[in-house]
Amino acid sequence: RKTAPMADDIRARKGGTPLVSLTAYTTPMAQAMDAHCDFVLVGDSVGMVLHGLPSTLGVTMEMMILHGRAVARGLCRAMMVIDMPFGSYEEGPEQAFRNAARLMAETGAGAVKLEGGATMADTIRFLVARGIPVMGHVGLTPQSVNTLGGYRVQGRDARAEAVLADAGAVADAGAFAVVLEKVPQALADRITAQVPIPTIGIGASAGCDGQILVVDDMLGIFTAFKPKFVKRYADLGAQAEEAIAAYAEDVRARRFPAEEHVFASQAPTPGASDG
Ligand code: KIV
Ligand code: NA
Repeated sequence: RKTAPMADDIRARKGGTPLVSLTAYTTPMAQAMDAHCDFVLVGDSVGMVLHGLPSTLGVTMEMMILHGRAVARGLCRAMMVIDMPFGSYEEGPEQAFRNAARLMAETGAGAVKLEGGATMADTIRFLVARGIPVMGHVGLTPQSVNTLGGYRVQGRDARAEAVLADAGAVADAGAFAVVLEKVPQALADRITAQVPIPTIGIGASAGCDGQILVVDDMLGIFTAFKPKFVKRYADLGAQAEEAIAAYAEDVRARRFPAEEHVFASQAPTPGASDG
């Protein structure tokens, strides 16, 4: 990991060209986005999109570390941020530090992300003071789905002030950026104007200082449901199924393997390749 931007470089992009970000969980996908993204998030969405879990609550430190190590091997240019999984930081600053330090040490991530606003301010301050850059995450915080009553838009009407206060608290505590998830566009624009750190929108506003999407959503690989805020840039899940169906037909018809996929009894002449 040579030239990757650091948390301070990301923070300095406030108000500039929008920051580009996606989630990644594997080496090949990290390689595909390395040249195009400012930072890559090893999101706890991995539990839902790769492991078939019903929510992010069942994601463990071990899962985050395994996927974090895979992603790190695919990046040399983009910064890597890793999510703290549910249950690994909410008890208090010391628990959070212990697990954040482990995530960074064992994966090579340059920062952690954790969910929560004012409630998490003391924890964020504690981590930042001890060498751990923190990205905040306010608005819809999926690890709190059971107390939020579902994956609804956050901060409508009178509740806008609480989301604004959360973003402000995270910034005051020293976070270098903050994800705004599933909040009204006008509120996202207000928060972006008022907080001094980059806002990273997902279901927020094109006026945010950056955008993030779950890569399997935007590539059409994860299709169990599609949030309104997802734009599908490809339909790879359907393409994969077509390819698999074609393979199955070929095998049943003995069309595969063909001549070019099989080996002769005699060794090829010297210099020729045998694959
Ligand atoms: O886990 C995740 O994918 C996330 C982003 C969508 C912000 O937290
Ligand atoms: Na997440």
